[in-house]
Amino acid sequence: MPDRTFVMVKPDGVQRGLVGEIVSRLEAKGLKLVAARFEKLPEQRVTEHYKEHLSKPFFPSMKEYIMSGPVFLMVWEGRNVAAIVRKVVGSTNPQEAAPGTIRGDFGIDIGRNVIHAADSPESAAREIGIHFKTTEVFDYKRID
Ligand code: CMP
Repeated sequence: MPDRTFVMVKPDGVQRGLVGEIVSRLEAKGLKLVAARFEKLPEQRVTEHYKEHLSKPFFPSMKEYIMSGPVFLMVWEGRNVAAIVRKVVGSTNPQEAAPGTIRGDFGIDIGRNVIHAADSPESAAREIGIHFKTTEVFDYKRID
């Protein structure tokens, strides 16, 4: 099975018209988009996705924000893709994210930080399983 990761453009990224820019950056990096869906997430999947943060003080406001509008869910494929995407995305806190990264270029607020990317291959497998059926993930040859 090829390396895969899960990426989500959050409601602020969608509302600011950054979906195309984000997809372009990941495509230009040489990664392959193998699944994508635009959706307003139900509460149960937000809770499942962010279950490690359930007890954090920011969880209720984060849940409200993630459910406040549609998100753009994606699966990306490529060697070491989880680590590569985290580098392209930048630090969780946009104020610490380096210029040239997605959060460094487009984010200001840790709560509204434009994008989520799985932090490891294990997290990626779990998150892909929450949001996508296996029939929604496509296999095709990318031509470079
Ligand atoms: P994400 O990569 O989606 O994973 C967990 C999220 O929790 C993170 O991005 C932030 O958006 C959010 N988060 C982490 N720390 C804080 C915080 N102190 N206040 C608000 N949101 C936070």
